[in-house]
Amino acid sequence: MKGIILHGGHGTRLRPLTHTGPKQLLKIANKPMSQYALEDLRDSGITDIAIIIGDVYPEKVKEYYGDGKKFGVTLTYVYQDKPQGIAHAISLCKDFVGDEKFCVYLGDNVLRTGLSSYVTKFESTAKEAIILLAEVENPSQFGVVEIKDKKIIKIIEKPKNPPSNLAVIGVYFLTPKIFDIIQQLKPSWRGEFEITEALQLLMDSKMDLDYDYVSGWWKDTGTPNDILHANKLILESMTKSNNNDGIFIGKNCTIDPESKIIGPVIIGDNCTIKHSVTIGPNVSIGKNSHLDNCNIKNSIVMDDCVICASIKVIDSIIADGTEIKNNDSNESVYLLGERSKITL
Ligand code: TTP
Repeated sequence: MKGIILHGGHGTRLRPLTHTGPKQLLKIANKPMSQYALEDLRDSGITDIAIIIGDVYPEKVKEYYGDGKKFGVTLTYVYQDKPQGIAHAISLCKDFVGDEKFCVYLGDNVLRTGLSSYVTKFESTAKEAIILLAEVENPSQFGVVEIKDKKIIKIIEKPKNPPSNLAVIGVYFLTPKIFDIIQQLKPSWRGEFEITEALQLLMDSKMDLDYDYVSGWWKDTGTPNDILHANKLILESMTKSNNNDGIFIGKNCTIDPESKIIGPVIIGDNCTIKHSVTIGPNVSIGKNSHLDNCNIKNSIVMDDCVICASIKVIDSIIADGTEIKNNDSNESVYLLGERSKITL
């Protein structure tokens, strides 16, 4: 079975964080979100993987993942010039897929349980697709299914009156039959070739589509709050599976014993944490960061940051290379990029 990771799109809901790179490279618990997808595919035995790259700094994706060897996979890059929809992105992989079954994983989805059981199921079925469903509180924001007599009878994208609270998550098991179906699609009202419409058309063409439920949590990380929630969930899972206090500290860190660290917390390599600092719970600090005087809770601070100010940082995402410092005059000095957000 082959794998496809979607790494395109514009990530508009995550601006300004996505002005300088694709959202899927934003780190959650100190790892780019798309690396969770790649590792799930690899750990379920799928090592021949295509990555769809878009027009937001695609070279950064190539630079990070390279040929895939470092991650135990072989990578092929497929370029999508404009985000014309998930079905469009899939259609670009026809040659890559050949006549094999394949798994499409949206690079901004994170799953607690991994893929192995679903991969085994799809390998042995004659069905043309398996989709995964999760219960959500806000079904109008997702593709939603209507089920009758244990069969999916309808899939609707972002319905105003959802027939259920079961959302189709961003992992799809497909066969090459989907390519002919996608060719028949027309752009939707938002100008995209929708995967939900392709799946509906597949059912209308009397092809069999199966489903399974996601066990454990699943997160679509489209918004800042989603990213913070995913950070908490991943840190909690790491704590559970390591059966420890949930404090993960990288190499060459200098951490003052008088600082207060409340797990779950992850701190990357080469960080300095001074005595007057409180971190946690649910905090990720990227590598080469320097913290003094601050109190950080439920937040992500990425790589190469300096926070040396008597401030409380709560529910925040602070991108690479940010500096927050006190000055002597007690006046605030800002150099903020487009669409920055500050709540004082
Ligand atoms: P979305 O979250 O629907 O779109 P987006 O990433 O552009 O974000 P926003 O709505 O905030 O502007 O995309 C879901 C996933 O699919 C995400 O990982 C990006 C990827 N994608 C592509 O690779 N190509 C596409 O044409 C589209 C629409 C999405």
